[in-house]
Amino acid sequence: MMSMDPQELLSLCKRRGFLWPAYDIYGGLAGLYDYGPLGAALKKNIEEHWRELYVLGEGFHEISCPIVAPEAVFKASGHTDAFSDMYVECTKCGETFRADHLVTGLHEAPASLDEKQLGRLLKENKVKCPSCGGELTDPKRFNLMFRTSVGAGKGKVAYLRPETAQGMFVNFSQVYRFGREKLPVGAVQIGRAFRNEISPRQGLIRLREFSQMEAELFLHPDHKSWPRYKDVKGQVLELVPNKGKPVKMTLEDAVKAKTIANEALAYFIWLTYKFAIDVGLDASKLRFRQHLEKEMAHYAADCWDLEADIGYGWTELVGIADRGSYDVQAHISHSGADLTAFERFDEPKEVEQQVVRPNFGALGPLFKGKAKQVADGLSKLHVGSVAGKDGVTVEVDGEMCSVPSSCYEVVLKKEKVSGRKLVPHVIEPSYGVDRILFSVLDHAYTQKDDYVTLRLKGLVAPIKAGVFPLMARDGLDEIAGAICNELTKAGLAAYYDDSGSIGRRYARMDEIGTPCCITVDYESKKDGKVTIRERDTAKQLRVEIAKVPRAVETLLSGGGLEPVSALR
Ligand code: GLY
Repeated sequence: MMSMDPQELLSLCKRRGFLWPAYDIYGGLAGLYDYGPLGAALKKNIEEHWRELYVLGEGFHEISCPIVAPEAVFKASGHTDAFSDMYVECTKCGETFRADHLVTGLHEAPASLDEKQLGRLLKENKVKCPSCGGELTDPKRFNLMFRTSVGAGKGKVAYLRPETAQGMFVNFSQVYRFGREKLPVGAVQIGRAFRNEISPRQGLIRLREFSQMEAELFLHPDHKSWPRYKDVKGQVLELVPNKGKPVKMTLEDAVKAKTIANEALAYFIWLTYKFAIDVGLDASKLRFRQHLEKEMAHYAADCWDLEADIGYGWTELVGIADRGSYDVQAHISHSGADLTAFERFDEPKEVEQQVVRPNFGALGPLFKGKAKQVADGLSKLHVGSVAGKDGVTVEVDGEMCSVPSSCYEVVLKKEKVSGRKLVPHVIEPSYGVDRILFSVLDHAYTQKDDYVTLRLKGLVAPIKAGVFPLMARDGLDEIAGAICNELTKAGLAAYYDDSGSIGRRYARMDEIGTPCCITVDYESKKDGKVTIRERDTAKQLRVEIAKVPRAVETLLSGGGLEPVSALR
């Protein structure tokens, strides 16, 4: 198999109904694509398999949160301050460019440079506008979130979510309760996210609206493992750590050597590998690369990317990050909500812990008859939600009371307790659906002379079988139509085609990745059998019409035509 020119792949996708540039009749808008019928089916199949692994396989809870979120969410998450890229503008033609992309090859990690360093590198190397050769401005920061407002008039500032993750963090308590208050517990979400990319020029790889499949595993800070780690710890993976050389090692050795920070991270790196192979990515064109320390996102304590070698070069498809307690702690601090888990001790223990103590001397004059209720509210607060603030808000009888910091203090208190509250840590596998889909197509693409075959795996192929009557008459068309119906009833997407030569019809199916074709001929009327042809070997076999759905299912699950011929 070979990676191909991305433009050729995009043109096949456009011609055959996988992808269309969005709003094309109005000139389009960079970074937006429509999925045609085949693309939508391929995407759904990829997402379904992911759901099967994470929800059915690992027991994560799937939720679905709004795409629009209030500003407070992203102030807490750090996105309003830190979620930006740098751009330069051409002083002649006005086009804008990602500044770090213009120095690719001039620095080993351009994304780690600040404005000054990037500006210097651009100047030293006399980098000019790639479109017209004009002079470029100094790099400036640009926040990548789409800002909007909610409601009439001035409305309330809100943003389109740049990741599905925050919806899961703010719902930690609900997910924890739903999971019977145990750690580890996981949430997943599949949905759209938005980033106002500076210059999206790489088809599906850099989109302004895209789909994510994200999992958030909430776990005890001291027990970062996952029950199934023991089943996979002997598996060998090729790793590119941020220090030292690429290595092939077992997950267990990688954790012991601290190459991978913990067992949970290692397990989800392995699950990501399994998913990638299942959906048809080519193992010889995959690698796990650890982020350089300077490259890590603002929330990440450690991060590994699954990268695929495609026509655009090595491309990040999945990021598996240890986000520590960053997000949950940030939402505790900003919202005051108690997003903690409770760790029950085997025996009650005498502990000294920090608590919020109301100061009645200050509360009385300020809140009068409500002082006791305000004090009760203060006592329930987690210390993390008051730290470093001038005051907090406490709800009394549905009314929000602003309480200045003079009304409480954080003190150490000795008590006998049955357990303790803790802020969970998070391991996050975050999958970019569109990039995965494009890479699956890239790795599936094969060409011999002018003949193109997409070797898509049966699991993800948009159409599972083409069904052809040799002639669209003499009852052959009716038999083929009935076979199509039976396949559809069995949940197997089938495509009826009676136009052109059989060779042309095979070619059309091969080019869109259909794993097999069924041909009804005049013999079929006599012997009740049809020909099934396997895409990748072009081998053929006669099977009874009644066995066609089972034959297609058998073929899709691998092993070629041999197990099909063994069907009873
Ligand atoms: N949630 C990680 C990301 O979207 O990059």
